[in-house]
Amino acid sequence: MYCTRNVTEDLIWVGADDRRLACFEGVYGVPDGVSYNSYLLLDEKTVLFDTVDKAVYSVFLENVAHALNGRKLDYLVVHHMEPDHAATQELLLQRYPEAKIICNAKIQTMMKQFLGCDLSERTILVKEGDTFSTGKHNFTFVMAPMVHWPEVMMSYDLTDKILFTADAFGTFGALNGRLFNDEADFFTENLDEARRYYTNIVGKYGPQVQAVLKKAAKLDIALVCPLHGFVWRSHFGDFLEKYLLWSSYTPEEKSVLLAYASVYGHTENAANILACKLNERGVRVRMYDTSVTPASYIVSDAFRCSHLVFAATTYNAGVFVTMEQLLHDIAAHNLQNRKVALIENGSWAPTSGKVMRDILAGLKNIEFIGENVTLKSALAENQLAQLDALADAIAAELNPAPVVAEAPVAALPVAPAADAVNKKAFNQLTYGVQVLTTRVDGKDYGCIINSAVQVASGEPKKMAISVIAKNYSAEMVAKAGRFNVSILTEDAPYSLFQRFGFQSGRDVDKFEGLPYEDRTANGLRYIPEYTNAVISCEVIEVKDLGASILFIADVVEAKVLSKAPSCTYSYYHAHIKPKKNPAPEQKECWVCKVCGYVYEGAELPEDFICPLCKHGKDDFEHVVPNAKPKVKGWVCKICGHFEPCEGELPADYACPLCKHPREDFERAEQ
Ligand code: FEO
Repeated sequence: MYCTRNVTEDLIWVGADDRRLACFEGVYGVPDGVSYNSYLLLDEKTVLFDTVDKAVYSVFLENVAHALNGRKLDYLVVHHMEPDHAATQELLLQRYPEAKIICNAKIQTMMKQFLGCDLSERTILVKEGDTFSTGKHNFTFVMAPMVHWPEVMMSYDLTDKILFTADAFGTFGALNGRLFNDEADFFTENLDEARRYYTNIVGKYGPQVQAVLKKAAKLDIALVCPLHGFVWRSHFGDFLEKYLLWSSYTPEEKSVLLAYASVYGHTENAANILACKLNERGVRVRMYDTSVTPASYIVSDAFRCSHLVFAATTYNAGVFVTMEQLLHDIAAHNLQNRKVALIENGSWAPTSGKVMRDILAGLKNIEFIGENVTLKSALAENQLAQLDALADAIAAELNPAPVVAEAPVAALPVAPAADAVNKKAFNQLTYGVQVLTTRVDGKDYGCIINSAVQVASGEPKKMAISVIAKNYSAEMVAKAGRFNVSILTEDAPYSLFQRFGFQSGRDVDKFEGLPYEDRTANGLRYIPEYTNAVISCEVIEVKDLGASILFIADVVEAKVLSKAPSCTYSYYHAHIKPKKNPAPEQKECWVCKVCGYVYEGAELPEDFICPLCKHGKDDFEHVVPNAKPKVKGWVCKICGHFEPCEGELPADYACPLCKHPREDFERAEQ
């Protein structure tokens, strides 16, 4: 039986999941399966974009026949000739003998090699920038060599702004019915497999990926349709951001990958001790036994972490085999820009350190740090200092501020260094958005504000912020008597606003999972990414303004973090805050009032949790087409909450979700 889903009104996903595949490409374990995506466009002409792996040919052919609904297939667009997308071409072309092939010259050559026949009479060759019309839809073609084979190309639908990206932006993992990225909790549940897919499949070809990303940046993209994984229809910028890091070999986080190869446990013991010492210094460690964890997972984290530590025993006058394989794998994937430290072990002639260094030394911008630690059979008591020194060297590189014990309010103020206030930091203040942070009873708090201003330029300089009175952060700042303001920049992702703006510190630790723990001299956290300045303040006066609390404070530290432009309040609304998904006009559904997620169906399960913003059923609005008139009300410009109300909102009204006052609401109908 066919199994299809509509991507748009006239574009249908006709691919399939494969959960029985043990190893993708014969080497990468895929415990969560993989999807092979193929898309059929029903325009005046019918167009199939790629085929699928032979493992799922049967349902694929059923899908295509069902989606065509009796129409003939006019065109097959081939983006990539790797058999996971091309193995069923022959069957398809036999079944639809009138179908013409649209591809580039390299693909044509490979088709002949794979299929063993010349199909040039059925082929329309295209090159970069060529256009093609299928009726309502107009396409142009983008060549994408080495992403991931040399023949790869992409298609761009100028009409619906859809980019068909071949392998790019794919992920390991079966779709399990979730076709769109926002039907999954992607950045929590799928990002690791997307990283493992990218780094292992196309990680070697960073410059080529960067070249294609530059071309794609010129396109207005509404949907991204890759050959594996989810169709992207929202928050694509956040995923693109990861691609920019991965393809430029830029570490995703300041952390340590610690991989070890140990035969009898002594090298493992040294690795464990080092891991403890690193954690004691506030360094995040991701640790693997190379004999247990398949290399693809460790390669993936090598792309993720800024610092790499390899510990291995000597074996056959070289290095233990699983470590040797891993390092060759990392070298084959062209990893760059990393700091590396080594621990070797050998009972009579340790050689593993030299072999490991030789394998990695040829990579671009690899710097070895710390003294090599050499174990003779096992770590000796007097070598603990060597591990301390190595941990110190790494911690100094990562420069994490020590976690300071919470100072009692009475212990204020913290004395800043004489030159602690960089006046240039104030130049970054606009009517913009900032992250306010503070700390009480050993717990960090933070929220988004748009109210930080410098109010006096004498010494000490003074700042004022106002915080919504019902926000927990207001209570915490009042209690702590100090705060930091991190000024956000235009490249700040929406996820950062979700993290600090759309949940309460009463319920969650807003800093959980952040890859950094930077603090200013007052011991408070600040946001080192997507910010251009941080200003530390000591509260000197508090005024209750009713809906908001005004804090006036002395500036004790200010530093510039980057030259990136500050994110103004209007920039946030125009370019970062996602546009609400309109509710489907013809279908009964439930729409999340917090984030706009649409659940299609008449009944919403009692225990349903929004996959995007995690709000429950109470925050969903039941939309029945043509069954109820539009309701007049007010919508929160901050979080999108809709409050039904014919007249004016009460003067003391505050948004039940984000706590902003009625001034942040505008009239709306839903
Ligand atoms: Fe999914 Fe390069 O094939």
